[in-house]
Amino acid sequence: MSLRKLTLALSAVAAMAATSAVAKTVRIGVVLPYSGGAAQFGEQIDRGMNLYLNQNKDAFGGHEVVIVKRDSKRPGGDIAKNAVQELITREKVNLLTGFVFSPNAIASAPLVTQGKVPMVIMNAGTAWIPSLSPYIARVSFTMWHAGYPMGQYAHDKLSCKTAAIGFTDYPPGKDSRNAFTKGFESSGGKVLEAIPMGGPREVPDFTPFFQRVKNAKPDCFYVFVPAGNHSVAVVKTYTNIGMKDAGIRLIGPGDITQDTKLQSMGAEADGMITVHHYSADYKTPVNEAFVKAWKAAYGDDTTPDFMGVAGYDGMAAIAHAISAQNGDVTADGTMKALKGWSFDSPRGKITIDPDTRDIVQDSNVHKVVAKDGRLMIEVIDTIPQVKDPCKALKIGKCK
Ligand code: PHB
Repeated sequence: MSLRKLTLALSAVAAMAATSAVAKTVRIGVVLPYSGGAAQFGEQIDRGMNLYLNQNKDAFGGHEVVIVKRDSKRPGGDIAKNAVQELITREKVNLLTGFVFSPNAIASAPLVTQGKVPMVIMNAGTAWIPSLSPYIARVSFTMWHAGYPMGQYAHDKLSCKTAAIGFTDYPPGKDSRNAFTKGFESSGGKVLEAIPMGGPREVPDFTPFFQRVKNAKPDCFYVFVPAGNHSVAVVKTYTNIGMKDAGIRLIGPGDITQDTKLQSMGAEADGMITVHHYSADYKTPVNEAFVKAWKAAYGDDTTPDFMGVAGYDGMAAIAHAISAQNGDVTADGTMKALKGWSFDSPRGKITIDPDTRDIVQDSNVHKVVAKDGRLMIEVIDTIPQVKDPCKALKIGKCK
């Protein structure tokens, strides 16, 4: 072929590619709590999403991205479900994201199946949620990523022979209780009691529950509450009723040592052990750059936490799914692109398991240490690249 013919042929291919990748508007519905006690979570996730968007304007394959936000207000499911209905039918969104509270994702699952609109979950952690619809993928965690290894670690490394559990009484709390129990008892420990401690909406007075645990004298007390103001109240109550002096060790998923709340917990948090997949204190180049950019954007006195990083990573997943389709953004194309997606996140390597559409990531053992006048998280052990143990072990609704 002559040079001229080759040039013409290449121009024709380029022209075809340009028409098939014509820019489209992609509408993303975001459902998060923007009012009430949980508004702090909406703000974290928003900030994570915005940081990714601002740093990666070209990551969406030339498409215009329109974000349509709705306030889910409460964890009860009904308001989020109405918002999802409206986002699908009236706002004609191409995909949905956000979802802090499990009941909100659970109530919305049938709508995303009927409407064929993919949902990328940025927090809600009840393990079996992605099984509710083939159009759900999750970039956050399951309650088993932390609860199950915490149970094993408590028995094997913290010398806890007995434990009590306190949990917020709704789906992720029950899931976290089950995860810890399975890890702890299959390692040889014994759970003395598991106490439901009120709902996710209001912070209860934890004193009567904790007093019951103090009287039962377990070696370890495993607590799940949905982060935020609940977690500060947990550590304060533990301190106030003298459980540390009584030799009872407070442990849990990293929700109870959330980065944004750590400095409000007081000196007694020093030495607490939790298991989680993220802390702003991780000493890796990717995370240090992320935290620096976060502080530059939102202020030196702010910090990302596990919800902020999920907003950031979730937007990276969405950008990948949109740009990978090179043209029309369809539900099936989005799900195909999300399955197997992998990313060098501030938390470390993450992948969406193509079989379960759930996240695969390191579970890290965190120790709270007092250093330079502040409390911080030190990673003292790592279980690499954990697939949701609930689904891997085929337990209960994860079968
Ligand atoms: C949830 O509702 O699934 C949930 C909320 C807050 C957390 C963890 C899980 O910290």
